[in-house]
Amino acid sequence: MRILVTGGAGYIGSHTLIQLLREGHNVLVYDNYSNSSPEALNRVKQIANADFNVCEGDIQDAGKLNEAFGSFRPEAVMHFAGLKAVGESNEKPLEYYAQNVSGSIELLKVMQRHECRRIVFSSSATVYGNAKYLPYDEHHPMQPTNPYGRTKYFVEEIIRDWTASWGEASAILLRYFNPVGADPSGRIGEDPNGMPNNLVPYISQVAVGRLKHLKIFGADYETRDGTGERDYIHVEDLARAHLAAIEFSEATTGCEAINVGTGGGATVFEMIKAFEHASGQVVPYEIGPRRDGDVARSLAAVDKAERLLGWRAKLSVADMCKTTWNWQSNNPYGYGSK
Ligand code: NAD
Ligand code: UD1
Repeated sequence: MRILVTGGAGYIGSHTLIQLLREGHNVLVYDNYSNSSPEALNRVKQIANADFNVCEGDIQDAGKLNEAFGSFRPEAVMHFAGLKAVGESNEKPLEYYAQNVSGSIELLKVMQRHECRRIVFSSSATVYGNAKYLPYDEHHPMQPTNPYGRTKYFVEEIIRDWTASWGEASAILLRYFNPVGADPSGRIGEDPNGMPNNLVPYISQVAVGRLKHLKIFGADYETRDGTGERDYIHVEDLARAHLAAIEFSEATTGCEAINVGTGGGATVFEMIKAFEHASGQVVPYEIGPRRDGDVARSLAAVDKAERLLGWRAKLSVADMCKTTWNWQSNNPYGYGSK
């Protein structure tokens, strides 16, 4: 199948490309490299031992998107491109609405113009907001608590309306929980710009010596050890969920939102222990105050993914830590150099 992948050079996109290529799909990556490196794509080609085309462009650039669709004629789109930092979205909400919301609208318009009727969209568990009950199922009320989360919520609604207006269209909204881990080759992985915002990249940069110690954001939550609990999902499992979703969309029309998590959770202390075990390094930490906007626990209900997509997560927290360490220790400065 010809699949156009927006944001394909990024963390999750690059891991998904490997599996698309291994399955023999024909891929065009569309990315502006605002948060990624072309080097990730070179490495994907080596790992998968396959070639693909790349178009450097912004999803807000309708002319360029139109050209890419005209020449590649995609049958489906995987839409990863967007900005994703919660803190930054509070400081620059308009930038987030422009890139994530307006950019997605441009993409949908061009898709329709070229009669491309299938999309898999990268949404997030952050659309749910504070838990009314756990685990979050797909019917849980959606009350995102920051501009980033609202961009995901708005785009979900826009895509839902788009599929309702075009009977042949099919959309899968994948609500990722906490993606971590890396390809087992150790050649691609998450490479955050500046100070990492998320737990596992932070721990791995401490373990490799780039950062002194981890600051734990609160140890007074109502969890088994007082630290925040999350549903971490291996990026390789997440990539497989995209393949299952694109396959599902072939035989269906309409719009489905589906959680992608494991259904189980790990606390911050448990993640530190697991990472120390996988890396053989000590991860020094300090306990600090809670981070604004954090919840105690976040866990996915995963039966819908299993029922509709025939997909479930296979990899463990130990696999997540082992592959993250393999990537981080082989590439202490990610795709760049010190
Ligand atoms: P990432 O930043 O590594 O990848 C995003 C890619 O999109 C990058 O290559 C970037 O250069 C590109 N991009 C950004 N804006 C663009 C634009 N306007 N035009 C073209 N390309 C653009 O992020 P990721 O972690 O791989 O996340 C992928 C998607 O999944 C994002 O939409 C993100 O919001 C969503 N998501 C991520 C997580 C997570 O924890 N990583 C969790 C839930 C949802
Ligand atoms: C964050 C985002 C969320 C996004 C998710 C995707 C915020 C407020 N939320 O959530 O919108 O969907 O990533 O992966 O940024 N922690 C520390 N020290 C750190 C970093 C994190 O103790 O330096 C703790 C957090 O308090 C939390 C856990 O580790 O309990 C996981 O944090 P993180 O990786 O940032 O993920 P989320 O909080 O789920």
